[in-house]
Amino acid sequence: MANTRQFDILIIGGGAAGLSLALRLADTAKVAVFAKDTLTEGSSLYAQGGVAAALDEQRDAIATHIQDTVAAGAGLCRPETVEFTVRRGPSVVRWLIDQGVPFTLQHDDTGEQRYHLTREGGHSRRRVIHAADATGRAIETTLEHQIRRHPGVKLYEHHIAVDLITRAKLGLAEPDRCLGIYALDKRAGRVQAYSGACVILATGGASKVYLYTSNPDTSTGDGIAMAWRAGCRVANMEFVQFHPTCLYHPHAKSFLITEAVRGEGGRLLLPNGEAFMHRHDPRGELAPRDIVARAIDYEMKRHGIDHVNLDISHQSTAFIEEHFPTVYRRCLHFGYDMTREPIPVVPAAHYTCGGIIIDDLAGRTDLDGLYAIGECAFTGLHGANRLASNSLLECLVFADAAAQDIGRRLPDLQASRFDSLPPWDESRVTDADEHVVVSHNWAELRRFMWDYVGIVRTTKRLQRAQNRIDLLKNEIREYYSNFRVSNDLVELRNLVLVAELIVRSALSRQESRGLHFTRDYPQPDTTTPPHDTVLVPEQPAPTMVTASGATAN
Ligand code: FAD
Ligand code: SIN
Repeated sequence: MANTRQFDILIIGGGAAGLSLALRLADTAKVAVFAKDTLTEGSSLYAQGGVAAALDEQRDAIATHIQDTVAAGAGLCRPETVEFTVRRGPSVVRWLIDQGVPFTLQHDDTGEQRYHLTREGGHSRRRVIHAADATGRAIETTLEHQIRRHPGVKLYEHHIAVDLITRAKLGLAEPDRCLGIYALDKRAGRVQAYSGACVILATGGASKVYLYTSNPDTSTGDGIAMAWRAGCRVANMEFVQFHPTCLYHPHAKSFLITEAVRGEGGRLLLPNGEAFMHRHDPRGELAPRDIVARAIDYEMKRHGIDHVNLDISHQSTAFIEEHFPTVYRRCLHFGYDMTREPIPVVPAAHYTCGGIIIDDLAGRTDLDGLYAIGECAFTGLHGANRLASNSLLECLVFADAAAQDIGRRLPDLQASRFDSLPPWDESRVTDADEHVVVSHNWAELRRFMWDYVGIVRTTKRLQRAQNRIDLLKNEIREYYSNFRVSNDLVELRNLVLVAELIVRSALSRQESRGLHFTRDYPQPDTTTPPHDTVLVPEQPAPTMVTASGATAN
């Protein structure tokens, strides 16, 4: 037990949510940040479009940003969360500017320099502040630079959190509380206990549960799975956002083509050059994402084609090179010159709208001492469909809110901490003998989630997926109980659980709304008020003190 490493704050995740929280707390508390790859590898690093905030006081207003968010959310946004988040948009953007994030500037008509604001689907105004088309990289590298120099922060890169340690799991008397984490040092192959006065999950989304995704490999839903196993409720997991435009090329790994390309006039075309979006929505290419992705899916199936085209070649080469340097270079690398020709695009899984339930606008979960912020959290901001560029906004606003809440509560949290945690017990497990089991199950899961739980669903397909998940779960449980943990095994165990939460939620929503479209119930249910899908876990069994395998549930 003497082996436990002790901190005030354990932050799991080095994305926009985790790093901005760490910076806000590092002067007053002893902070550890865990990242399962290098510090900044995660969705935030690849964010292209930017951060939505009503910054233009003359042409935009908080009320308009609220309206657009609520309209995209298809009846399920929580009004108090939308108001809370959107109102704080301008101040968190100013915080980023103060940290040194180099957002794109341009000269206005009077010759004055202002931040350039772009437009994306579902926004009725230009309100997305950006750093060309590599906004996430600009934010992450700026925050990383500060964090690496800060003496109050200890970084654990290449460390994957395996599970949360709670009083209930240790068999201790109520009330339950989060005490720390077990994390696997991927390079040393060792699991270590870390205690904290509080733990913050900032682990990002779960889009890797699908075969085709815009997300990096880190998006395996670990935080959602860990919170669920620790007894926290999750909500709205059926609302998986598919980004309409990822580059269609066998080696491009679903590289994202930012929605700002459509915001700056890009048109979606069939292979014969015919535009089609106006047939699906009067807003055309700038309709919210659920509508555009479904329209592309529909046209691809109707014409038996494997992609549609996105054309912005009417803009000048200088404009494209200035606004979309990353996308332009990447497309050129794959043989497409977007300044001269349309590029082939398809939808891919992009964002997890559901997640760990946060009820208090401060990031607190159902478990005392455990917070969740960023994409892994469900705050009620996005409803049934997230508005473009509202995710980074949510990461930044809730990191700020959680930092304030934790700052206020720190003495109390410290008083109920528990610094001697049982070491990870490997006495009943051996080295894995067949890695092929893990890789095969990974591939199978992602393939059937894509085929059966994608943009257009049916009850029968969802049930098929559920049957396969049940089989996989048993196999993985057995594997986890008998063999030493590895990165892939931890992620697979989490992915199959998240897949189950998505399918259960999708089956229980007997209507089509926002991102959830099912042929069996093609319309929204107007007979009852719109509702969230809330899943409640069974109480966790007190098993953590035995072998690692015994914690599988
Ligand atoms: P992430 O940035 O994904 O970070 C998660 C972190 O958690 C990583 O450091 C990871 O290593 C760590 N982690 C996960 N599990 C574990 C574990 N078990 N142990 C240890 N560490 C762990 N949104 C916008 O608002 N605007 C945009 O322009 C935009 N563009 C996007 C473009 C792309 C290509 C993608 C993929 C997403 C985009 N999004 C955009 C969405 C947005 O980027 C993400 O929702 C947001 O960045 C999530 O931030 P996060 O901090 O919650 O998680
Ligand atoms: C994009 O740039 O299209 C992504 C924006 C987002 O996911 O919010």
